[in-house]
Amino acid sequence: MVSLSSPTMFSLIHFIMGFLTFSTVHSVLECYTSIFSFGDSLADTGNSIRESNWASDAGKFPYGETYFHRPTGRFSDGRLIIDFIAEELGLPYVPPYLGGSSDGDFRQGVNFAFAGATALDAAFFQERRIPNEYTNNSLGIQLGWFEDLLPSLCSNPPGCGDIFKKSLFLVGEIGGNDYNYPFLQRRSLEEIQTFVPLVINAIGSAIDMLIKYGARTLVVPSNLPIGCSAEYLTVLESQKKEDYDPLTGCLTYLNKFSEYHNRLLLQEMDRLRAQHPHATIIYADYYNAAMRFYRSPDHFGFNGGALRACCGGGGPYNCNMTIKCGYRGATVCDNPSSYVAWDGIHLTEAAYRWIADGLIRGPFFSPSITTPCLSLGSHDHPYYE
Ligand SMILES: *[C@@H]1O[C@H](CO)[C@@H](O)[C@H](O)[C@H]1NC(C)=O
Ligand SMILES: *[C@@H]1O[C@H](CO)[C@@H](O)[C@H](O)[C@H]1NC(C)=O
Repeated sequence: MVSLSSPTMFSLIHFIMGFLTFSTVHSVLECYTSIFSFGDSLADTGNSIRESNWASDAGKFPYGETYFHRPTGRFSDGRLIIDFIAEELGLPYVPPYLGGSSDGDFRQGVNFAFAGATALDAAFFQERRIPNEYTNNSLGIQLGWFEDLLPSLCSNPPGCGDIFKKSLFLVGEIGGNDYNYPFLQRRSLEEIQTFVPLVINAIGSAIDMLIKYGARTLVVPSNLPIGCSAEYLTVLESQKKEDYDPLTGCLTYLNKFSEYHNRLLLQEMDRLRAQHPHATIIYADYYNAAMRFYRSPDHFGFNGGALRACCGGGGPYNCNMTIKCGYRGATVCDNPSSYVAWDGIHLTEAAYRWIADGLIRGPFFSPSITTPCLSLGSHDHPYYE
């Protein structure tokens, strides 16, 4: 029989206590308790339909037909990436800020994302005569809403640290519309390229501000491959065969443009990571998560190819800028889950689900997210009107 002498016992206890202390101090393996989101229609869960001066398309059938069975203000047939992330984290769907708070507060999160929003202020586009008929609720306005909300979130702002360190901040996707408006109004590639560093700067400033308010985990999505989008393929149709990628049918120079934005975004994120080593800034590679569909649509069940929209006004990509999804003359496919493109610019729930899956289970989050609470969510999620 081995008897432990008291010094040995003491060391053992000391060791165990040290271990416990170590794991407590270094434990980042907690559940997220809320999601704060900023962005555009890729993440809008119902803000734009609440702005009275714009009859948002996403308030019309067949938007929402697949999962919610009614339009909720989401620009898809069903759930968005942010909805799948909320499900995976065991959190309720992130309620839209403009919907008001139904439970007295937004402690489990709030969504400021607004369809049509740009990263740069509305004035930037007005000065350049690039009309944005949808909204002036740019990233800067959304950050202002966030600041307005702080007093009701935390008793003593900016003392929101305790809430924010367990929150996931979704910063984007944002910036896509800064390019969509000028490209679809046929402004030159050379001009639009000059916007990219400014857009990246706006996103970087938002990340910096949120970290200063106490954000510790931030997810920053890339731009999608715009050259594969039905609106771009329709409006910027080219007679030159060499403009198209023979494998995917996407417009190569436009995807290269998205890649340029994403490259600068990654550089900016590296700069911010060095500046804020205590924050985890996660790149969400929407671009490559989506490129899988265009390269091998069949593999994901998209058996009608990946470029033709489910809902739209006809033509080779079922996209016509004068007959949009939700309006008279547009048709909708029978099975949206076999399509990547929902309308001319947004993706189907099926595509968003694959993207969310590729983020959470890898490899498209960088670094990957660390929490023991993935997939603990029930299937009974409250959602907000
Ligand atoms: C955006 O602001 C401009 C200038 O104040 C205004 O003329 C325009 O109507 C606004 N647009 C929207 C969609 O609210
Ligand atoms: C869009 O629809 C209009 C009206 O039917 C038609 O004149 C036009 O050619 C269509 N455009 C495309 C790109 O199919």
